Amino acid sequence: MDDDRITDLEAVPDDTTHLFRLRDVETDEVREAILVRQNGDVAGWLNYCQHFTHIHLDKGSGAPMRNGEIVCENHGAYFESDTGLCTYGPCEGAYLPDVEVTVDDGEVYLADDDYEFVGPGPIEKDDLDRASKSNVEF
Ligand code: FES
Repeated sequence: MDDDRITDLEAVPDDTTHLFRLRDVETDEVREAILVRQNGDVAGWLNYCQHFTHIHLDKGSGAPMRNGEIVCENHGAYFESDTGLCTYGPCEGAYLPDVEVTVDDGEVYLADDDYEFVGPGPIEKDDLDRASKSNVEF
């Protein structure tokens, strides 16, 4: 279970997001995800706007938030931090893909069978190199 530990609960800020990386176990692709506080709990979402899905909500220093909603800076979409629903903006009605997480004894763990925890922060060049090498081997 230690491999699935994302961070301390205290490291998840109240007014922005905590960025980390995970690997899709089916495709081996490394993706970015965010943790966000909501009503005393923590939720996890993939870090991609549902308007243009290559756009990161958290660009490395925390996504902006307004009234508990995550804001995409590109075109001003708002996403509920507890449901992932876009309540305003060009992708209104769409949902952020969820990442299951759990809190235990002050630590936040990845609890989603579809992903493996990779590390904190944004995608690094190494992550991409590894993915492209694995493609070459086939
Ligand atoms: S890319 Fe996020 S609202 Fe357009």
